[in-house]
Amino acid sequence: MHAWQVERFGGPEVMRWVSMDDPQPGPGQLRVRVHASGINFAETRMRAGTYSGQELPFLMGMESAGVIEAIGSNVAGFAVGDRVFGRARGSHATHVLFDAAHSLPMPANMSFVEAAAIPVGWLTAWHALMTVAKARAGEKVLIEAVASSVGSAALQIAKWQGCWVAGTASRQDKCERALEAGADATYNYKESDLISAVHADTHGHGIDIGLMTIGEETAEALFGAMAAEGRIVMYGSTGGRKVCFSLNIGMRNLQLMAMSISSSALFMPITMKSFREVALPLFASGHFKAVVDQTLPMSELVRAHQMVDERRHFGKVVLVND
Ligand SMILES: NC(=O)c1ccc[n+]([C@@H]2O[C@H](COP(=O)([O-])OP(=O)(O)OC[C@H]3O[C@@H](n4cnc5c(N)ncnc54)[C@H](OP(=O)(O)O)[C@@H]3O)[C@@H](O)[C@H]2O)c1
Repeated sequence: MHAWQVERFGGPEVMRWVSMDDPQPGPGQLRVRVHASGINFAETRMRAGTYSGQELPFLMGMESAGVIEAIGSNVAGFAVGDRVFGRARGSHATHVLFDAAHSLPMPANMSFVEAAAIPVGWLTAWHALMTVAKARAGEKVLIEAVASSVGSAALQIAKWQGCWVAGTASRQDKCERALEAGADATYNYKESDLISAVHADTHGHGIDIGLMTIGEETAEALFGAMAAEGRIVMYGSTGGRKVCFSLNIGMRNLQLMAMSISSSALFMPITMKSFREVALPLFASGHFKAVVDQTLPMSELVRAHQMVDERRHFGKVVLVND
């Protein structure tokens, strides 16, 4: 097999396409021939050496879709030849090991590219909105960086749940694409006064659920736009890890919640379970649609990382094997 490997932290040039033995699936594992693999913001931080806990060397990629080639012991419900998708470290490769518990069967109407665009972004958004914030119909949701992989998934989930949904972006074209994708309002946070715009659009109510990912640049405006008793779910630190805010948010009884799908004890029993039971059928019926911005050959991983840095994408950049 071949895979993109990092042996020292640095710029995109440190990623190398290397040859290695095919992995053998252990108990509870599947070996998958990778057809497509999604790109995530976190991978650029892993490569650069600024992602918590990342050790060297490692294989790039966190999610993929493909066909099962071999199955380890203690696996039920999967067969060689099945099309599957899911979160799997080392996915920017020709082959990768999936944990069966993290593997999802691909609906018949779904392509490998669409499936590869789903796992990390949609499971993060599903966990944030459904498991952590427990979004209810009629609530007002604000999604920071709505054009991101997680944000574009959160937009569809919150709309399906019956919420009023707004999103922010740093570029007008991304705001327009979010409106086309169903957002009720969008704000270019580089130009607009978020607090007064939100209060006007929500008739003074403010935001019930804020999905926070940017950090210091937008935190004050997000907190200011929240309704009393609002829930802020902090799921990313895209713009840096340090945020300074006033504890006067207590006067409005705001709830500030943080999450990681990698370490949450609720992720497997609640989020994965409900994603299988509720979200997968919505993909199969065509209600939910993976948001793919562009596809690139697997050989163009360096270009894919540059695209994440350029911040023009709406949804996912996906790598495809020949
Ligand atoms: N908690 C979890 O379990 C979990 C799981 C998955 C991902 N995440 C996190 O979620 C965040 C989004 O991931 P993603 O893969 O959806 O990202 P993505 O598709 O690459 O989008 C990230 C977007 O963030 C915005 N942004 C704002 N300030 C930025 C800055 N200083 N540098 C770079 N981007 C900036 C940009 O949109 P605008 O320019 O329009 O603002 C950018 O396009 C990341 O922080 C990631 O680590 C967390």
